[in-house]
Amino acid sequence: MLQLKSVFVTYDPHTHFKKEALVDVNLKIDLGEKVAIVGRIGSGKSTLIEVLAGLIKPSKGEVIIDSLNITADKILRREIVKKISVVFQYPEEQFFAETVFEEIAFGPRNLGLSDSLVKEHVEKALLDVGLDSSYLDKSPFGLSGGEKRKIAIASIVAINPTYLILDEPTSNLDYAGKQSILYYIKEKISIDKTVIFVTHDMDEVLGIADRVIALREGRILFDGSVNAFFEDAQLIQEIGLDTPFTFSFSKRLRSCFPDFPNCSTIDGIVDQLRQKKNG
Ligand SMILES: Nc1ncnc2c1ncn2[C@@H]1O[C@H](COP(=O)(O)OP(=O)(O)OP(=O)(O)O)[C@@H](O)[C@H]1O
Ligand SMILES: [Mg+2]
Repeated sequence: MLQLKSVFVTYDPHTHFKKEALVDVNLKIDLGEKVAIVGRIGSGKSTLIEVLAGLIKPSKGEVIIDSLNITADKILRREIVKKISVVFQYPEEQFFAETVFEEIAFGPRNLGLSDSLVKEHVEKALLDVGLDSSYLDKSPFGLSGGEKRKIAIASIVAINPTYLILDEPTSNLDYAGKQSILYYIKEKISIDKTVIFVTHDMDEVLGIADRVIALREGRILFDGSVNAFFEDAQLIQEIGLDTPFTFSFSKRLRSCFPDFPNCSTIDGIVDQLRQKKNG
C-alpha cells in the first residue's frame, strides 16, 4: 500500500516565489487499484506523483511505500525503484542509449539482474507494449512519436515495479498512438499491479481508472469512484473538466432503460443497445 500522511510540499519556501504545491494531502492507494489523478494546470499533479515515488521529499508529512517509510528512514533509491517507477511526461526527451535494447536494459541492469534476466525482461517489456524484437537494434532516436513513447514505457515496465506511475502517458500522440498506449495500460498490465496516471482526458479516466483523485491548488478536492466523480457535474465544472460524451449519453439512455450502465466507449453503448433489442 502507498500512503501519504498529511503531506505538504512548498517550493522556494523562503523567497517571494514561495509556492505551496501540496497542502495537507492524505491518501492510501492499495495494490491493484487503477487511479487517475486530474486537475487544472499547476494544481499539483506532477508534484504529487514525484512525492509518491520518493523523487522529492515533502516539506512536512510522511510517505510510506509498503513497509518502507521513505521520509523517516534512509532507503536506497534502488529499493524504491523496484517498488515504484515513473514514466515522466515526454519521457522520450530523456533517451540516451544508442539502441532500443540498451535503453530498456538500463533499469533492470541497475537492479543488478544477470545478463540473461536483463535480456528476458527487455524482450518481454517490448512485446508487452506491442513492438517486436526487430526494434532491439534500432536507434531509439529514429522512431516515430508513438514508438518512442512505447519504448519509454517499456523501459519502466522492464523494471517490473509493483506501482507504475505515468504522467500524461498519451500527451502529444495522434489518435492511433493514443489508442495503442491505452490498449497496453488497459489490457497488458496485470490486474494485481497498481497504476496511477495523470491525465487531462476524461475519456481515459472513464476507460482505465476505477478511482479518481482530483486536485485543486494542491489540495485533494475529490477522492472516490469514477462513477461518483462523473455524477458530480458541479465538481467537474469547478475543476474545469468535461464529462465524457459516452457517460452523458449513457445517462440520457437511462430515461428509456433505467438499468443502462455507464459505458466508456461507443462500441460499449452499441453492444448494450443490441442486447436490449434482442432481450
Ligand atoms: N521545481 C519547482 N520549483 C518551483 N515551483 C514549482 C516546481 N515544480 C512545480 N512548481 C509549481 O508548483 C505548482 C504545481 O506544479 P505541478 O507541476 O505539480 O502541477 P501540475 O498539476 O502537474 O501541472 P500540469 O498540468 O501543467 O503538468 C505550480 O504552481 C508550479 O509552478
Ligand atoms: Mg504536471
